[in-house]
Amino acid sequence: MIIGILGSGSADSLTRSALMTVGAAIRVTGLGFSLLDLSREFRDLHDVAAYAEPEPGSQTARVRARLAPATGVVLATPVYHGTFSGLIKNALDHLTGDAFQGLPVGLVAAGGGSGSASVACDHLRSVVRALGGWSTPTHIGLCHGDMTEDGLQEGLRERIAEMASELHHFIGATDAARAAALVD
Ligand SMILES: Cc1cc2nc3c(=O)[nH]c(=O)nc-3n(C[C@H](O)[C@H](O)[C@H](O)COP(=O)(O)O)c2cc1C
Repeated sequence: MIIGILGSGSADSLTRSALMTVGAAIRVTGLGFSLLDLSREFRDLHDVAAYAEPEPGSQTARVRARLAPATGVVLATPVYHGTFSGLIKNALDHLTGDAFQGLPVGLVAAGGGSGSASVACDHLRSVVRALGGWSTPTHIGLCHGDMTEDGLQEGLRERIAEMASELHHFIGATDAARAAALVD
């Protein structure tokens, strides 16, 4: 199951549209996809006092439990002042440093311009590395100009399919490696 973490709380969100298109492309590869809408599920600020030993039912315990079944993650953020949103960073601050260990992580950013969106994705790569994850080579940086009457423009849809394929291949390769280790 790939969990798509949405870091935008805006109505009519471009980030949400892009993430849902990514989710559909992931399902085409045969993998499951589940949306985690941070603005609805986890709105409270990270409580550092709860970090080491979170109480059952605390937001820290709930964020960690929500992500525990993930075999991969997609982080989707609006661009705010040149980088990813506080909503995304607040959620990631709840996690232990090995939370993305062995997991592929796709990146999506929506900005006023596609260049700034790409920069936000690059900033997220550094955070993914700190959590032990493997960012996919392809990320999705988009802006409102990438929308047509029929939804996202074709070139972007192709990039999204490419990123979904990279997530799928990574999970297939790690599953095969685990199976081989069990046989040996
Ligand atoms: C507080 C704030 C800061 C922003 N900073 C930038 C920025 O630095 N660069 C940029 O390209 N767009 C910036 N934008 C524009 C948003 O990234 C853009 O509207 C995007 O579509 C928001 O995503 P959403 O539609 O999912 O809310 C900013 C918007 C807000 C509200």
